[in-house]
Amino acid sequence: MTQTQRPHRNFYGRLKGKALKKSQKAYLDEDLAALSPGAVGWEENPERLPLDLDALFGGRDVWLEVGFGGGEHLVHQAQANPEIGIIGAEPYINGVAMLLGKIRRASVTNLAVHPGDARDLMDVLPAASISKAFLLYPDPWPKARHHRRRFVTPEHLEPLARVMKPGAILRVATDIPDYVRQTLEEVPRAGFEWLAEAPRDWRVAWDDWISTRYEQKALREGRVPHYLTFQRRA
Ligand SMILES: C[S@@+](CC[C@H](N)C(=O)[O-])C[C@H]1O[C@@H](n2cnc3c(N)ncnc32)[C@H](O)[C@@H]1O
Repeated sequence: MTQTQRPHRNFYGRLKGKALKKSQKAYLDEDLAALSPGAVGWEENPERLPLDLDALFGGRDVWLEVGFGGGEHLVHQAQANPEIGIIGAEPYINGVAMLLGKIRRASVTNLAVHPGDARDLMDVLPAASISKAFLLYPDPWPKARHHRRRFVTPEHLEPLARVMKPGAILRVATDIPDYVRQTLEEVPRAGFEWLAEAPRDWRVAWDDWISTRYEQKALREGRVPHYLTFQRRA
């Protein structure tokens, strides 16, 4: 794929927040390039696509977190599972800078960072290469006319289904009842099976869960988390 073939995409979320601290600027300048899976600037290197995940992670299973926010869950999973490699995608540069600080403090090495839209990353991932994916508190877009911006739409889910292995697990957390509705409608349509058998399966967090910043805010504001687990069909 060349730059001219790259699809035009609107990103509606925030790319920048308040001014970065000096230390955060240093993390971005000093650490980000080495942690990039190669998806940044891939237009100039089309012969190197799709990304070589074996070269990146030495043949380990690869997991993906979409919209990692401040990165607490991403670093937690990387630390708890040193036998896998995990890639996080997040366009909000303040979040990326927060993650880089956490990576320095945790000294994890099985982690890669795409500082941009997950759709651009999925374009360059090999088919059936991801064995677990996390979509944790995606932007809720509460107004009906904005529902098509949600991540749980075919524009995002079809590429996600393409890059996930048959049998791979997709976790979605949300505190918005209408987001649950759309997720349960759209995700199975994209080739995933919802694994819940009883209410505790969506009411109780996963065993290895660490609560994210957004979840903490939702809980403070009285909203109820839902934990949805899907499996990519063969
Ligand atoms: C509500 S926040 C939740 C952040 C974090 N997962 C948490 O639970 O604290 C949603 C995040 O998804 C990111 N996001 C939105 N669209 C995205 C996309 N297409 N690719 C990657 N990240 C995206 C936003 O920038 C934002 O940081």
